Amino acid sequence: MADLKIAAILGSTRPGRNGKGVADWVVAKAATLVDLLDHPLPHLDEAAPASMGQYAGEHTREWAATIADYDGFVFVTPEYNHSTSGVLKNAIDFLYGEWNDKAAAFVSYGALGGAPGALSSTGVRPGTRRDGRSGRDRSGWTTR
Ligand SMILES: Cc1cc2nc3c(=O)[nH]c(=O)nc-3n(C[C@H](O)[C@H](O)[C@H](O)COP(=O)(O)O)c2cc1C
Repeated sequence: MADLKIAAILGSTRPGRNGKGVADWVVAKAATLVDLLDHPLPHLDEAAPASMGQYAGEHTREWAATIADYDGFVFVTPEYNHSTSGVLKNAIDFLYGEWNDKAAAFVSYGALGGAPGALSSTGVRPGTRRDGRSGRDRSGWTTR
């Protein structure tokens, strides 16, 4: 079997962020860094739902091509107000099919240690399949 490509998606773009050190640790273990600073996205500006896969913006197509290239993801997320960061949520919202049927894991950190599942516990389920064909918690992802 070919080596799986796993991306560590860093969810903090804040100047002075602590997240880079956390993401570097994840990368040393298993993954390739996908830094959202390198993929600047506006607030969601696509007219069509992401599930249609019709991306008008060049920034969306670039982001979609980046994510489509991976077999799975480790979301490295700061805890902001008991949730994930807005920049990471926005980046997830831009796409749909590119997240489907891929593995996902979450690494959370914060001033108080980071809430376990700061991303997943918010109900954010990228790639959720609505056709009922997936038997995995209604999600297209396998979360561990
Ligand atoms: C807007 C904002 C909200 C935060 N809310 C929380 C919180 O709810 N719980 C917590 O433990 N830490 C909270 N913190 C602290 C951050 O988790 C901590 O500063 C962390 O280092 C942020 O990651 P970053 O440095 O990579 O951006 C918050 C920080 C910011 C900037």
